Amino acid sequence: MNYDTQYQEIRDMAASFSDGELVPIASKIDKEEKIPKNVITQLSENGFMGIYVPEEYGGAGMDNVSYAIIIEELSRGCASTGVFVSVQNSLCITPILQFGNEKQKKKYLPELAAGKHIGCFCLSEPNAGSDPGALTTMAVDKGDHYEISGLKNFITNGREATLAIVFAKTTKTDNHKGISAFIVETNTPGYEVQKCEEKLGIKGSSTAQILFEKVKVPKENLLGDLEKGFKIAMSTLDSGRLGIAAQAIGISEAAYRYALRYSTERVQFGVPICKQQGLQFMLADMATRLQAAKLLTYDSSHRKDLGDQFSKHSAMAKLYAAEAAMWITTKAIQICGGNGYTKEYPLERHFRDAKITEIYEGTSEIQRIVISAIELKSVT
Ligand code: CAA
Repeated sequence: MNYDTQYQEIRDMAASFSDGELVPIASKIDKEEKIPKNVITQLSENGFMGIYVPEEYGGAGMDNVSYAIIIEELSRGCASTGVFVSVQNSLCITPILQFGNEKQKKKYLPELAAGKHIGCFCLSEPNAGSDPGALTTMAVDKGDHYEISGLKNFITNGREATLAIVFAKTTKTDNHKGISAFIVETNTPGYEVQKCEEKLGIKGSSTAQILFEKVKVPKENLLGDLEKGFKIAMSTLDSGRLGIAAQAIGISEAAYRYALRYSTERVQFGVPICKQQGLQFMLADMATRLQAAKLLTYDSSHRKDLGDQFSKHSAMAKLYAAEAAMWITTKAIQICGGNGYTKEYPLERHFRDAKITEIYEGTSEIQRIVISAIELKSVT
């Protein structure tokens, strides 16, 4: 497949939004640690809040390759906005699309796609990060409803969310069994944002700690089958990792393009620095890693579109794209020297933003575990 020509129109549309609306304010978003409300409205108007929600549920009805390209372009402009949109689509909309019943889809998908609901994904806890099977939040059956109590950590979009996909145990266990998934409206009494983390990067994106204190959830808001929540979480993260891979590519692209141009304009020893072969080698390696990250990400998105197994491929895409983003943003600063290290240039923000892609939705070590587990299973 030629991902360049086939998706050119989608890319142009997202790129034009990113260059016009995000690039000029990305540094302000980073400083003020908030995505302005009017940007969220514009994201909704452009169909970005429900990219692959089918049109019958009010969404843009696009495929997963388009989704990756849009997240990439938005993240090139502003990584905080990129992850805001990514969590909405892949971590909140995906599980409802894949595991929700018709009533839940009709109730929630149109409002999510219209940006009237902002979503988050409440899996991690202070003592259950890489090992979500160890979560201790409980959902107690109270007859006509469940009562959820527990503490969730590192919840992206937690500050803004009006709808949360929440994982809690309906049977107390010391492993992943017993976990169920719920759709929770965050205006329900007992749902409380305790604090937002101060972070190194993606500062415009909120990362909240959320307390659930006897939050009443109607029985009809159980998502999928009782005690099948761990599989819902894992399969949702397969999709989420595509979004983070795309985010890493967007950050890399921004840093690479900046360094490339700088190398043609900055004159030292009487010539533009791009005339130095050492620097040309760096640019070549940056471009090559960027292209490899793109192909892995589009390929695994395409596999998802085809309905094929893509857990391993999305883990590979995220692993590679995230490590490439750290490497590329480091080299971009190196090319720009002292200037690149200052806040007058955007590169230090790209460098700070890149780091999170190696951490959230599973660290790079977790991606290696996912990949090797699937590879080892193939040995009979
Ligand atoms: N899809 C569907 N089911 C899956 C699956 C997948 N991709 N991966 C595993 N499963 C199923 C297995 O088949 C198994 O099923 P059975 O119980 O029927 O046997 C079950 O899940 C348990 O599988 P494992 O034994 O492999 O599970 P594990 O506990 O050893 O964990 C892991 C494997 C890969 C390390 C996993 O725990 C993992 O991905 N950890 C990282 C979690 C993570 O990314 N956390 C960040 C969340 S993001 C967030 O919360 C904040 C935010 O806003 C971004």
